[in-house]
Order: sequence, then structure tokens, then C-alpha cells
Amino acid sequence: MQIEILGNADTVSAANNALIINTPQAQATVTIYSPTIIRVCITRNKEADASFAVIKQPVSLAEHTETTKAVEINTSALKLVINKSPLRFNFYTADGKALSEDDPRFGTNWQDSRVITYRKLYPDEKFIGLGEKTGDLNRRGSHYVNWNTDAPFHGITTDPLYKTFPFFVGLHSGLTYGLFFDNTHKSYFDFGATTDEQTSWFGADGGDMNYYFFGAQGIRQIIQDYTWLTGRMEMPPLWSLGYQQCRWSYMSDEEVLEVASTFRERQIPADVMYCDIDYMEGFKIFTWNKDTFANPKKMIDQLKEMDFKLITIVDPGIKIEKGYQQYDEGMERGYFATYPDGQPYTASVWPGRCHFPDFLNDEVKEWWGASFTALTEPGVEGFWNDMNEPAAWGQNVPWLVKFGKRFMPEIRNVYGMEMAKATYNGVRKILGNKRPFVLTRAAYSGTQRYSAIWTGDNSASDEHMLMGHRLVNSLGITGISFTGVDIGGFITDPTPELMVRWNSLGVYTPMLRNHSSEGTLRREPWQWGEENEAIIKKDIEQRYRLLPYIYSGFYQSTQTGLPLNRTLAIDYTNDEKVFDTKYQNQFLFGDFMLIAPVISTVQTADVYLPEGDWYRLSSGEKFKGKQVVNAAAPLTDLPVFIKAGAIILMQNIVQSTAEKGDGILELHIWNGTKPTEFVYYEDDGTTYNYEKGEYYKRVITFTPQQKTIVLSAAEGKFTSRYNTIKLVMHGFGKAASKEVTNKNDEITITY
Ligand code: GLC
Repeated sequence: MQIEILGNADTVSAANNALIINTPQAQATVTIYSPTIIRVCITRNKEADASFAVIKQPVSLAEHTETTKAVEINTSALKLVINKSPLRFNFYTADGKALSEDDPRFGTNWQDSRVITYRKLYPDEKFIGLGEKTGDLNRRGSHYVNWNTDAPFHGITTDPLYKTFPFFVGLHSGLTYGLFFDNTHKSYFDFGATTDEQTSWFGADGGDMNYYFFGAQGIRQIIQDYTWLTGRMEMPPLWSLGYQQCRWSYMSDEEVLEVASTFRERQIPADVMYCDIDYMEGFKIFTWNKDTFANPKKMIDQLKEMDFKLITIVDPGIKIEKGYQQYDEGMERGYFATYPDGQPYTASVWPGRCHFPDFLNDEVKEWWGASFTALTEPGVEGFWNDMNEPAAWGQNVPWLVKFGKRFMPEIRNVYGMEMAKATYNGVRKILGNKRPFVLTRAAYSGTQRYSAIWTGDNSASDEHMLMGHRLVNSLGITGISFTGVDIGGFITDPTPELMVRWNSLGVYTPMLRNHSSEGTLRREPWQWGEENEAIIKKDIEQRYRLLPYIYSGFYQSTQTGLPLNRTLAIDYTNDEKVFDTKYQNQFLFGDFMLIAPVISTVQTADVYLPEGDWYRLSSGEKFKGKQVVNAAAPLTDLPVFIKAGAIILMQNIVQSTAEKGDGILELHIWNGTKPTEFVYYEDDGTTYNYEKGEYYKRVITFTPQQKTIVLSAAEGKFTSRYNTIKLVMHGFGKAASKEVTNKNDEITITY
């Protein structure tokens, strides 16, 4: 094995907004993206690189100075000291506090094609992030691999799972930094898990040591910077935030319609039905089974009459079958991944022997995207991308399989994202001004621009429920706001208690989707006995009550990258208690709600309330923060606490997002001592007209000192669907409620 350690700088020069340093082993290029974002790319290939994730360009090189020993680059926020002999990269705050430094002994080095950077490990350093990774919130002492994997039957410690987000946040000495290692090869992160406790390291089996360093102070700001660099989600269709009912599979149009109409009969709100793989003919993508789904348009029209949308699944595997359009076209045009001899690569998935589109090729993406007319013409508006790690029945894809010029090991981690991108771009074109919903299982940094994600095939256990929500919270740190888990657990059967509990937690999950595997118990809300159905219904109703708050939360994600579900580490970074494994599953849902997940077999739970005052949502009882409270947690009442000063918008219960409701927007305020603010956002929920100014936005401010609630004049051209605003006050000593007409001018309410 050939070992090389990055040696001394021979030459240092500045050109094209970049500082370029050559050593005998490699070339290092330093570029600046903003005062808080610096990129370092160390390569032995000097090939022009392209990123799947990054959508921004560097700005001009900041001030830099050179001495015989070092080069120093200064921005208003950061100081990068590059030691020349040997070449090492050390990041400091502008006033000189160490944020992250190379291990002076090993720095960056290669073992054959594997590249690794060793960093100093600070005694109190914690790490969070990496997206969909099992384990604890604080990843210190753990080692992770990124290698997108179909992971059915995964456990609560399995690694890797389906996705790759090589971005983490480091916390030490009261400081924060972020690091995005933009390398699509199989990669490794070791947060002090290797025996020498003095180092942490990250690396990959190939490619460049190419990372973006984020030096903003505060995790919110780091997430904002990371999503500025890699993009943010766009406004989702409002209907996708409603309740979604899925199953592998509803076997016929009749069954789909029956389930949908049962929701309406039983008055359980819902918006979405799914067709899993069995709607197709022989699992051939872009076909419908002629016997069981004989008239998809008729079925979808009937769903529409009941205010349901349909989402259908697509997998990448194209069945080898002459006469099947996608197969014939793909073969003719050479659109499939190949072996080095040019023959298409073959593996088995649902349809049997398959070929796999080369989603790395733009022409293939176009072709794939255009094929969605088979689904959009009858009226499908949601597109579920599965098995895109890519999966081949749990078998390895040979490393010599080629995608254009690139081999599988280099692109595996982005294959799923490129499929989601092809899907998104295709259906956007076809649907015109209508917002599509795309859902993917495999992903890489930047996928938030195209798709929501779910965490794959979990199991029906309390441990999986808790772990799933840790995954959701962790995904939020990496810019993925629109996430979900299979509520109830995909594999095996939940107890009725677990189903009820998990559903109540689902209310506070960005995507609320009930999904289950074939061979398991049916999961619809009415399968669990009358009493449980009533609880499930009430919880789903709560979701619909909260939609104005949730939709505004998504708007916040589109503007700042801040996720809807936030580990407490984001806002209470320096509070050790939030990393305590006992409380690490707790999270904020939007700006003001604290949710404490509780397993289904207990009726009380210790909940840690961080700094500030809190109110229990269900009882109105007030608690001081910075303490553990023992909260009642019957299945009917998940512990949800509201931050003092909270501004939460609600509406009346509707059966779907298409229903108009009573036109009253409830403005709930919980008393507090400090001024608070909430950005309320509304638009038509279905089109891109908001891009042309058709939205309605107000900043709502609560100032307890002045006893006022002020709604700034409505911005945008959209007329709110609510004609009345009803103020509901909590914790003010007197039950107060006031109604005002929703005119567009500034509104001041005093109490
Ligand atoms: C995979 C998916 C699962 C789906 C099944 C059948 O296991 O993860 O959600 O139901 O395939 O398509």
C-alpha cells in the first residue's frame, strides 16, 4: 500500500479568485464563498471538478498574507492559517479562537486512492449531523460510513442506511463550526472512535479531499449557510402536508377507492392515497395493470371527487422485455448503465431481470422525466422514487459497472438524488404550474431541491419509533426539512398502543405517512378498535388544525433552510442536558412547540424543558424551564409543550386541505415575558403563482411589555383564505378571545 502525507508547500499563488498551493504530492485550492464559508480542495488529479450538491460560485479571494511559515486568509468572520511545512489547514474565528485544526502529524494523506484528513479532537468536542445516521444525537465516539444501501430489516444501530449527507457540525469551547466533505465516493467519518483519542477524521475511498468549512457561530446560521450553498426546498403542495395513507399494496382501483371513501365516511381527515408496486403490469415502470387498474383516469377522477390525491411508486429497474417501451428505447439509445464491454448491466429487482437508467446522463434524465406522462395523464400528482440506492435484491452492484465515463464506486451515493432530480424536472415540465410532490429513499446533499425523503423500511417497535424521529431531527441539520418515517413501522405488526402512539408523534413529523409491508396487518386508522380509532382520528384532526403553522414552518425552510423538526441542540447548543441520551429524542416542531417522544408501554415520561417558561399544550399548566418534569403521557396525550410567548396559527378541522373551512384563522398566543415574532405565510398551496407575488405574508409580533399583538400589513397579492382572525390567549389569567376582520392593513390588538 502506497502511503503519502501531504508535504511542504513548494509554490503559493493567487489566481481566478483562488489561492493555489502546490506540494510534491498534490495541489490545494482555497476559495471563499462568503465570509463564513471557505472551501479547501486538495487533489492529486488536477481535473476540473463538478459538484452534485453545490449551487453557488466562489467570490473574490479575501485578503491574504504570506510569510515564510504560513499563508493567512482573513474574512470578516474567519481566519484560515495555512502552515506551509508541512501543509496544514487551521481554522479560527476572526479573533483567533481555534475552531478546527488539522492534526499536525498526519493532516491530509493518501493510502493508495483513499484520502483522509485527520483533525485535532478537542476535549469537550461534540458532533451532530450526517443526516440519516443511527446512533445518538452526539456522535462523539462513533464511526460512520456513507454508502447508499438498501437496508430492509435494518436495526437501530445499522450503518450505512439509504442516504449520504457528508455534513456535520462540531461544537466545542462554546464555539460552532460545520464541515461539508463534498465527495461522492464511499466515505468515512470518525468522531474520535479510533483508539487514539486525539483525532477525529474523515475520508473517502477515492476522489479529492474537497470540503467546505462553515465558521458561523450558532447552528441556525450554519444550517442557513449550508443550505445557501446546497440549495433549499421549494414550497411543497399543501396537500402533501395532510395525512397520507400508503400500503404495499392496495391491489386494485376498487381497494384504493374503498379505503379513500372509508376515510370520508368515518370523517377522518386525509389527503393522499398511494399505489405501491402492484398497480403496474409486471412491475414495469410507467405501465398500469390492465386487470386491476383498468381505468386509472376514472379511479383518479373518483379520488379527486373525494378530495384525494394519488401518489404512485416508480423504481429505477427497467424490465428486460422486448416490446416494453422503456426497455426498447433505453436499449436503442444506450441509456442504461453498462459493463466495461458496453453491454447493459443486468440485475434482478421486482420485475425480474432489469437494466438501470444512467441518471448521470442529462439526456437520460430528460427521457425518464418525459415518461411520466403515463402517470400524469390519468391525473397522478405525486411520484415516489424507491429502490434507488440502487437496490438489487441486497446484492452488490459490481464496481466495474459504468455510468457514462464513471464507475459505480464514484457515483453510487448520488444515483438516487439524480433519479429524484430527473423525476422532479420531468414532472415539473409536464405539470406546468402545478406543484408536484416527489419522494425519494436514496439521497445525497442537495436532494432537498427536488424531493422529500423517507427513512425506508423501519420496523414496528418502540425503539424504531424513537430512532426514526432521531433520524428526522438529524436530517433536518443537513438541510432536509421534508422528511418522514413509515408511521406504525413498515415491517412486522405494531401493537394497537404503538400504532396510536406513533400516529400521535406523526402529527409532529414533516410528512405524516402511514405505510406498511405486505404480509403485515392492515394499518388504516379503523383497524385498531373503536377506542383507538377515536384517538387516531383526534390526533389527525390536530394535524389539520395546525396546518397554517406547519405551512408557515415550511415557508421558513424555503427561506432559511431551518428544518421544521429541530433537535434541541439547534437552539440550546450549550445546554449539556439536550445531549443526554435520556432526552436526546426531544425536538422543537417549528418555532414554538416542544415534542417529547414517548414509547407506547409507559404512561408517564421525564421531559427536559430547556431554558424559558413552558406550557403543557393539553392542560395549559405552566412550568419553569431548565428542569426535568415528570409528564403524564397517556396514549391520548403525547407530551407537547409550548414555549412562553408562542405564536401559533390554527384553523378549524377540515377533512382535507381542499376543504375551505370556516374562514377563521386562530391566532393562539401563550403569555411570556419577552417579545416574540412569527412569520405567517399563505398562498394557494398548489401552484407556482407565489413566485409571481401571489402570496400573503405577515410578521406577527407579540410584545408583552406593551400588551400588544401586531400583525404587519399583509405582503403579496394573494387573498387569505381566512376572512376572520380570532385571537386566543393562553396563560393571561383571564380567558380572552377577540375577533378581527382579516383586512390587509396592519392590525394592532391590545389586551
Ligand atoms: C421497498 C420500499 C417500501 C415499498 C416496497 C415495495 O421495500 O422501501 O416502502 O413498500 O419496496 O415497493
